[in-house]
Amino acid sequence: MHLFRRRSKAAQPVSEPAAAPLTPIANVPVGKPVDDPQPLSLLERARLSGDPFTVSPYFTSSELDIAWEWTDIIEPFLAPHQVDYSAVADFAAGHGRNSVYLLRKSAHLTIIDINQSSIEFCQTRFGNDARIRYLVNDGISLAEIGDNTISFLYSFDSMVHFDPDVIASYLHEFRRVLQPGGMGFCHHSNSNDKPGSDFKQNIHWRNQMSRARFAELCRTAGLEIVDQRVIDWREAIALDCLSLFMKPIPA
Ligand SMILES: C[S@@+](CC[C@H](N)C(=O)[O-])C[C@H]1O[C@@H](n2cnc3c(N)ncnc32)[C@H](O)[C@@H]1O
Repeated sequence: MHLFRRRSKAAQPVSEPAAAPLTPIANVPVGKPVDDPQPLSLLERARLSGDPFTVSPYFTSSELDIAWEWTDIIEPFLAPHQVDYSAVADFAAGHGRNSVYLLRKSAHLTIIDINQSSIEFCQTRFGNDARIRYLVNDGISLAEIGDNTISFLYSFDSMVHFDPDVIASYLHEFRRVLQPGGMGFCHHSNSNDKPGSDFKQNIHWRNQMSRARFAELCRTAGLEIVDQRVIDWREAIALDCLSLFMKPIPA
């Protein structure tokens, strides 16, 4: 999201007052907050990043940026690597501004998004191009995509907003659908300083993630990091990271 909010001044550390002993209140278990909300399920947390984009002015404004983002950010990062564009997935594709560029290189493109509205927009934009498959997914998995079928998984300007556990879930799916030796390119947050915050309150709506944490999640999912680059996003220094990873080829 291109919201130009300024980062708020960092909170100053304060010393903790000594903890007062807990006083039992009738019918309230000691130590449990009175107003304890149920934790959201993973599917519900996926909708937190999906729902703001069912309809959004983002899609019109971001079309103006994709040409320079492709030449200044994406291509320089990918160019040194042997990316196989034979079977590409544009993951969390929105209205397909990246798909336009991927279609210049790819014989088969799967366009995926949690929102039906995005996929309908892409269907109108690209029509019944025989190279394209369209998928509305559940927000945490790629159940409709077969094992070992994708040569390059691509995601730009979407996972920056995702809940970290949703990203962890997807990385296992990326490993499953990637061909051995296939690569994944993910643009994610490198901002990890407000755990538990509502991502929509953070600068450029960044969720909690870092270069190191993403690399660790990749390793846990059985993916090898090939390259990572911390990048600025507009005025925000080192806010994001580009990660390229590979599904290992069995020995
Ligand atoms: C900021 S838009 C970016 C779209 C596109 N990548 C671009 O660069 O224009 C974020 C997209 O991610 C999708 N999205 C959000 N959460 C998702 C999830 N959990 N799974 C799949 N797609 C999701 C939204 O529906 C939206 O289309």
